[in-house]
Amino acid sequence: MKNLLMTACLWVSFSGLVVAQQVDSPNGEMRMQFELLEDGTPAYSLSYKGQPVIGTSTLGLELKDDDQNLMDNFVVEDIQTSTFDETWEPVWGEEKEIRNHYNEMEVNLLQEGTEREMIIRFRLFDSGLGFRYEFPQQKNLGHFIIQEERTQFAMTGDHTAFWIPGDYDTQEYDYTESRLTEIRELLNSSITENLSQTSFSPTGVQTSLMMKTDDGIYINLHEAALIDYSAMHLELDDENLTFESWLTPDVTGNKVYMIAPGKSPWRTILVSDDARDILASRITYNLNDPVAFDDTSWIKPMKYVGVWWEMITGKSSWHYTDEFAAVKLGETDFEAAEPNDTHGATTENVKRYIDFAAEHGFDGVLVEGWNIGWEDWFGNSKDYVFDFMTPYPDFDLEEVRDYAKSKGVEMIMHHETSSSVRNYERHMDQAYQFMKDNGYNAVKSGYVGDILPRGENHYSQWLVNHYQYAIEKAAEYEVMVNAHEAVRPTGIARTWPNLIANESARGQEYQAFGGSKPNHVTVIPFTRLIGGPMDYTPGIFEMDISTFSPDNDSWVNSTIANQLALYVTMYSPLQMAADLPENYERFMDAFQFIKDVAIDWDETKYLEAEPGYYLTIARKEKDSNNWFVGNVNGDDPRTANIKFDFLDKGKTYIATIYSDAKDAHYRDNPQAYEIRKAVVNHRSKLSQRSAPGGGFAISIMEADKAETKGLKKL
Ligand code: NOJ
Ligand code: CA
Repeated sequence: MKNLLMTACLWVSFSGLVVAQQVDSPNGEMRMQFELLEDGTPAYSLSYKGQPVIGTSTLGLELKDDDQNLMDNFVVEDIQTSTFDETWEPVWGEEKEIRNHYNEMEVNLLQEGTEREMIIRFRLFDSGLGFRYEFPQQKNLGHFIIQEERTQFAMTGDHTAFWIPGDYDTQEYDYTESRLTEIRELLNSSITENLSQTSFSPTGVQTSLMMKTDDGIYINLHEAALIDYSAMHLELDDENLTFESWLTPDVTGNKVYMIAPGKSPWRTILVSDDARDILASRITYNLNDPVAFDDTSWIKPMKYVGVWWEMITGKSSWHYTDEFAAVKLGETDFEAAEPNDTHGATTENVKRYIDFAAEHGFDGVLVEGWNIGWEDWFGNSKDYVFDFMTPYPDFDLEEVRDYAKSKGVEMIMHHETSSSVRNYERHMDQAYQFMKDNGYNAVKSGYVGDILPRGENHYSQWLVNHYQYAIEKAAEYEVMVNAHEAVRPTGIARTWPNLIANESARGQEYQAFGGSKPNHVTVIPFTRLIGGPMDYTPGIFEMDISTFSPDNDSWVNSTIANQLALYVTMYSPLQMAADLPENYERFMDAFQFIKDVAIDWDETKYLEAEPGYYLTIARKEKDSNNWFVGNVNGDDPRTANIKFDFLDKGKTYIATIYSDAKDAHYRDNPQAYEIRKAVVNHRSKLSQRSAPGGGFAISIMEADKAETKGLKKL
């Protein structure tokens, strides 16, 4: 096997060992070459179908307080190659089985002079490359501080990129499409306001970064298994069109505290000449470890509604009283305070949502603003913001709990930490126990504002370890986690499937903060979703926010049909119907799709895809014959041509098509939709137009002959 995989051996070093060696992907389309440059610097390059996609790129780490970095003077001690092929079953996901098939090259390096050992492990899959640094247990390397990781990604041209500005604290930005050489002039204008943000360079961007070459090759750069390390950004040298890793520092400027034995996260490069393959790639999960615990039966995908959009839009408030400039937990007497008349999380209002959830078959109800402390919750560097356990006087937790139970609905807990991370860790055990005592199995957590301890960054090693601690601690209590503002996911959910979603990107909430670009949802699946599911919170039907929140003139840049499609195109085992019940009541025929759509899948077919422009996905519901299709469209009108050849031969189905009406438009006419039914089978075809910022959604249910009577065939 070893010799089969070593497809070439270009030259031999003075010590007689191989110093340039190639490995191919299992299907032979991708080739990675490792080499040692003359000064002993390790480097790699990558080609796809014979075309270079990553030019010679150097590898290494700059250490602090050390004149000998882990960058050069290496010799190759040994190179091992192997192959791996397994199929595993995710606890939830886009398909019931995932194949993990790669050829591996393990390069054992020894640094001359320091006698330190470092391994670079490459895994070449059919859809791309992953590699990481490993530091084995050894005599001459123990504790060390990484000042900067110096991993290069040399581009072969001035590609088109979909990027957000580099930032140590937020990913909540709209994407910019531009040439690599245009990033510098566009970066400042791409930085929009956020409650915590720290940019660092005029050409720094975030991963996952999606690119397209002029030859039609799609390239995606990201990372996998970000554990006990800081998050990686990419710094572009725009003269040489080369990216270099730029890690998130801590308050002192140090980037990572390492101990040998130890390892870096994987750096990933997805490549294909078909954009659909980028979406279908499971490299990010495959580079993470299998599930860390045995019993996963308590982890369940959920569809939910919540007392949320009314606060986000400004219709109601998280806080209970307007009487105080500041509050102190344990000292402020909330019972004696005059309540404002805007508090959203009242027992009565929550019961309304529980009724709505029960009536329409939703699994859960999220309630934000139920606990004391929201009066001065951000912007004050306040340490003890919340205790995660004490409700406001107008929220009767026991009554709500019992009412939800009687209706067969689960309550979803909310832990806004306000980024006071120490405070959250102090309360975590009690808070999770409190959840279990009251029947809550899932928590939405949040990290709004600047991190406490002061000066730390949302994506530094210390915080990465905190988010991981919360996930692992939650697993002990059998609690599912949906963390907002935490570091963007890197496939960790394979190992910790109780991490059922993250936000960590610009979610739907920004449509109520002034709006997002209409094509945003055609980019996110190629970027943010590469690392794991997003709690995007789809399902907004009223685009003119001022109709119910008069002081908010935001407009949701989307059509109703586009919102329906998001349940299919934005994969997540946790899906919200985010709008107000009263807005759904006006469009019950369209709401039916949200009620019907599945949230866990046996199979996924990517029918059409072009980042920034369009996306059409078909998915088969878990343990059922039902299929659901979603199409989201960018700024210009477009007609999708799709075949239903994914359906079982010999079976008949009824398709319900929810599409934009002819005159629909995200800005002028977003609520114009049409619903029609047709009989379909595996030979059916559909030509369907989507409006600017629009789309379509289709539910396809198996039917018997009698049910299809009178319906047209597609
Ligand atoms: C930001 C979150 O993304 C949002 O969903 C939440 O409502 C607020 N923080 C308050 O916690
Ligand atoms: Ca957010």
